[in-house]
Amino acid sequence: MEIPFAEPYKIKMVEPIYRSTRSEREQWIRDANYNLFNLRSEQVYIDLLTDSGTGAMSDSQWAAIMTGDESYAGSSSFFRLKDTVKKIFGFDYFLPTHQGRAAENVLFSVLVREGDLVPGNSHFDTTKGHIEFRKATAVDCTIRESFEPENLHPFKGNVDLDLLREVLDNHPRERIPFIILTLTCNSSGGQPVSMQNMREVKALADHYKIPLIFDSARFAENAWFISQRETGYETKSIREIVMEMFTYADAMTMSSKKDGIVNIGGFIATRRKTWYDQACTFNIMFEGFVTYGGMAGRDMNALAVGLEEGTEAEYLTSRIGQVQYLGEQLTAHGITVQQPYGGHAIFVDARKFLPNVKKEEFIAQTLCIELYLEAGIRAVEVGTIMADRDPVTRENRYPKLEFMRLAIPRRVYTQLHLDVVAVALKNVFNRRATITAGYQIVQEAPILRHFTVALAPADKK
Ligand code: F0G
Repeated sequence: MEIPFAEPYKIKMVEPIYRSTRSEREQWIRDANYNLFNLRSEQVYIDLLTDSGTGAMSDSQWAAIMTGDESYAGSSSFFRLKDTVKKIFGFDYFLPTHQGRAAENVLFSVLVREGDLVPGNSHFDTTKGHIEFRKATAVDCTIRESFEPENLHPFKGNVDLDLLREVLDNHPRERIPFIILTLTCNSSGGQPVSMQNMREVKALADHYKIPLIFDSARFAENAWFISQRETGYETKSIREIVMEMFTYADAMTMSSKKDGIVNIGGFIATRRKTWYDQACTFNIMFEGFVTYGGMAGRDMNALAVGLEEGTEAEYLTSRIGQVQYLGEQLTAHGITVQQPYGGHAIFVDARKFLPNVKKEEFIAQTLCIELYLEAGIRAVEVGTIMADRDPVTRENRYPKLEFMRLAIPRRVYTQLHLDVVAVALKNVFNRRATITAGYQIVQEAPILRHFTVALAPADKK
């Protein structure tokens, strides 16, 4: 028999979690205005809200914390991280920021102007937010297969080259500051982009003289999928694959809270000195001096170690294997999820799950609330609430898919926790016919409304 994989680590420190009662949860979710972002963490038993900043650091990372250099300027921790970024991604210019959206804010302040178009593959919500905030438009060019949950296309994060060419052909070059590729593509289910697609997008970008940027939050998971699924990469190391990936990018924005396995941090890296020089000014204004950018020296040290650990094949095999373990259980229960299973999360098709809830009553949000009530598990809606209103018409945007995302934090939960999640969701599935009413919005912010929206049951006016 083949020896199965297991986590390439053992547990040295634990944190208790509380298993609440259903009546406690009914009270808490009401008090939270039916927005799971408003729950206190003690009110959550298993927290699958996000894999962002929720990972467990290793003993080597904690050791690196102790040797952080907190100098305002010229910190040795900055240079350690800059060297690691150069080693892993190949970029010479590097700017730390306090997280991923801050990297977007700084770089887009340099590049995006009113009326611009930014084509890409299902831009993440903060990326889209930073584009729309500047009165520009994010154009989604993801392949059609990405929106068919049961389609087993191996690279559902890919860009449709014909769609992209159409955008590039029909708009003046000056209106397209860059193309952005999200690796892996979070919004479509943690789906990878193939090396071939990156190469082809880069060739097209070069042809039209438009730069290419990678939103790199889950770059290592993307590389792992390439190693498993793409011909010619079977025997390459994750580091070799990552190095090739980034040869196709002019710059990267990074949320280090994902594949950097740290609790806070982000950065910009680029090979373009002019972009770096301009970005420095915005970094100093918004983030901090160029050698810390909103990060403590100790956190830069922990990130330097995390980037090395996060690009080890053994770790990625167990990390993505755990996500697949949950996906397989849900599929066995007859629940439709985005296939193939993503790198960081399982995305449940909420429209299929709750056919009796109207789209105007936020189907995926309704499912998240039901799962919380069932067992104290916190998921997140990637559906109509997150899709926000159209910036011009102010109408709700109904996305092609309405998902509930179960994001798995790195190195945090065991398979037994995931067994609890699978059984809880199965229980909700068994009573799905009785779930007929969703929620209505009571209050919302003008942009990125999902974080703060207040809801009430739709059947109670
Ligand atoms: N890009 C992608 C693909 C992301 O998934 C995120 C964050 C960001 C950028 C922004 O980074 O949070 O460090 O400011 N995603 C989190 C999530 C919030 O839950 O998926 P940030």
